[in-house]
Amino acid sequence: MTDYRNIVILTGAGVSAESGIDTFRAEGGLWEQHRVEDVATPEAFARDPDLVLRFYDMRRAAIQTKVPNGAHLALARLDREWAGNLLIVTQNVDDLHERAGARRVLHMHGEHLNAWCTACDTRHPWRGPLMDRPPCPHCGANALRPDIVWFGEMPYRMDDIYAALGQADLFVSIGTSGAVYPAAGLVREARAQGTATLELNLEPSQGTRWFDEARHGPASVLVPAWVDEVLSGQSG
Ligand code: OAD
Repeated sequence: MTDYRNIVILTGAGVSAESGIDTFRAEGGLWEQHRVEDVATPEAFARDPDLVLRFYDMRRAAIQTKVPNGAHLALARLDREWAGNLLIVTQNVDDLHERAGARRVLHMHGEHLNAWCTACDTRHPWRGPLMDRPPCPHCGANALRPDIVWFGEMPYRMDDIYAALGQADLFVSIGTSGAVYPAAGLVREARAQGTATLELNLEPSQGTRWFDEARHGPASVLVPAWVDEVLSGQSG
């Protein structure tokens, strides 16, 4: 029988890697192919909006051709069947958690399938390109940008994340290198308040020493096995 009830899960690019979406920091990963400073900062967007919009248009189109893998499906099953509180905080900007069926998902770094109007500050579901400067469905201004948190910008809903973490008995980090804050700092917050911590990642993350337990291997193997464990504990 497990002795925890409230779970916060942090996911990163490693969860979507086996769906064919590039991670950021692997050899040949996204940040080796593109300089962060060129495509993922407000300054880059101000300097060369066409380059930035084209980059995100390509990524938005690409994720729509991918499908959830076993890790997304297992987390969706946990979301459906876990009776306690559960929050999947994802750094990923794809929609694979949702397409697998997960509902309790928070996108702290934004979402590819949203456009944000910087004129009227509204967000809109968006699947097509932004390169041709379509009008905002709400105010008509040609001021839509990707709804992605760029370097130097504040991740979304940190208050909600810390509130959920404050109630958590278990914090699990899956498929993230632990290189980007504030996400990378959540394990230390959890630890400081006595929450159990578990890492599931292909290799030790930068913050692996902060976890009570770490299991290393592909997410499509580790996550379903861990979800089975947790759900069998719940009914036991
Ligand atoms: P990274 O690319 O930094 O790290 C991905 C992690 O996943 C690495 O530790 C890999 O070892 C691991 N990994 C790769 N394949 C895996 C697999 N099949 N199963 C399990 N683990 C696997 O990606 P993130 O940590 O998500 O931010 O990066 C965090 C943030 O940095 C991103 O959200 C993005 C980026 O810059 C923004 O765009 C704001």
